[in-house]
Amino acid sequence: MDYQNLLISDRGAVRTITINRPDKLNALNLQTLLELDIAFRAAREDASVRVLVLAGAGEKAFVAGADIAELANLSPVEALRFSRAGQSLMRGIERTNKPVIARIQGFALGGGMELAMSCHLRIASDKAKLGQPEINLGVIPGFGGTQRLTRLAGRSAALELCLLGGIIDASRGHALGVLNRVVPAERLTEEVDAIANQLALAAPIALAGILDAVTVGADCALDAALEFETQAFALCCSTADMREGTQAFLQKRKAEFRGH
Ligand code: COA
Repeated sequence: MDYQNLLISDRGAVRTITINRPDKLNALNLQTLLELDIAFRAAREDASVRVLVLAGAGEKAFVAGADIAELANLSPVEALRFSRAGQSLMRGIERTNKPVIARIQGFALGGGMELAMSCHLRIASDKAKLGQPEINLGVIPGFGGTQRLTRLAGRSAALELCLLGGIIDASRGHALGVLNRVVPAERLTEEVDAIANQLALAAPIALAGILDAVTVGADCALDAALEFETQAFALCCSTADMREGTQAFLQKRKAEFRGH
């Protein structure tokens, strides 16, 4: 697949998908949303990929939002399609049963913050800036921001960020629970690579069980979610990887997980 706005690179079992519109601060136009959807589908189906890193090209931005030049001319019907394309992409990322890490080196604004929030882990540089400034354009977050920010940081922070449209720094993002880790800018790639490498060596079926239980379970009543966890736990106990992991511990050696 030839992408206009994405770069794809594989390092072992780690696939990095880079949004490549640095001159527009990697703003999400419809073409980019559609390409991301294709790239994530392909990664989900590719058994050789165990971990995904989502990044933005250039120094300045992860993603500075939906493409305002495109947004400015949307009819309501086109806006529906645009919002649905973003929501469906981001729900797909959230429900990917392989870990997805957002590597945030600069601006993650509007649709960029929403995209990052759909990933499973968010690792940011100390220079990162976050925000939901859509209110300043006369719109609201349309790619799930009102919902994911509320779930990650709570109602109070979500209302403050969406109503006032302010931009926050990485340390506030971390304090709010939106960012998992904040590291010096020059160590960002190294830190993300280390986390990705650790995940690439972990048992894939157990990783998928955790992702499913946490993400799907969060939308269920507690009893149903607990039952979901029980079933996923039992499934793990049917795998060769579970026998390998437990035997490796007992034999005081490093486990080698194969994903079956
Ligand atoms: N959509 C489309 N283009 C965007 C964009 C967006 N969300 N964000 C930045 N760009 C473009 C700029 O128009 C500019 O293009 P140009 O060189 O052709 O004029 C280029 O990216 C560089 O951005 P610029 O504004 O010059 O950089 P800056 O360092 O002065 O400011 C920001 C950086 C992030 C503060 C500023 O670009 C900004 O506020 N962007 C919009 C953020 C936003 O509202 N996002 C939510 C959208 S729903």
